[in-house]
Amino acid sequence: MTTKIAVFASGSGSNFQALAESIANGKLNAEIGLVVTDKPGAYVVKRAQSLNIPVAELAPKSFEDKAAYEAKIVELLKEKEIEWVILAGYMRLIGETLLTAYENRIINIHPSLLPSFPGKDAIGQAMEHGVKITGVTVHYVDAGMDTGKIIAQGAVDVVEGDREATENRIHKLEHKLYSKTLQQLFKS
Ligand code: GRF
Repeated sequence: MTTKIAVFASGSGSNFQALAESIANGKLNAEIGLVVTDKPGAYVVKRAQSLNIPVAELAPKSFEDKAAYEAKIVELLKEKEIEWVILAGYMRLIGETLLTAYENRIINIHPSLLPSFPGKDAIGQAMEHGVKITGVTVHYVDAGMDTGKIIAQGAVDVVEGDREATENRIHKLEHKLYSKTLQQLFKS
């Protein structure tokens, strides 16, 4: 059975692209039914459009509150019969409305070895701290900031003094680890 997923992203969407490629080459048995962004015009929108994947561009500010914003998202997800929500660079905490509608069905990828360096700019935090090894974590999403149950991790050697090189290593690993982990999760 093909699993129907929605990918949530706020920025570039390279992880979205990697998931779409894994699906296209048969490594991930899923279908991306919808891309959701809280940043209308983000680059992920272009990527999705060029793959003919529907996009919902929803600015939270145009809703009365977070619950109303998320209720709209849930409505769109249900319309598309989405089974899992996959966060890929979605820079917003998930609230009660989505957590309830998709209990244990929301997954995130974070660019550090959690529980180290949760939140924004995890790569910068790791480099600032002078760690020699950092990495990538795929985890369930709960109400906290990058606090949900860990599903998979991978390690990356920090390239000292070179953020760009470290970041490239992390992204390369993310692009492999996310689809591999989701494939295992959907099978189980
Ligand atoms: C990734 O590093 C992801 O781990 C983090 O945000 C970044 C998104 O990158 N949550 P992209 O938009 O997928 O290129």
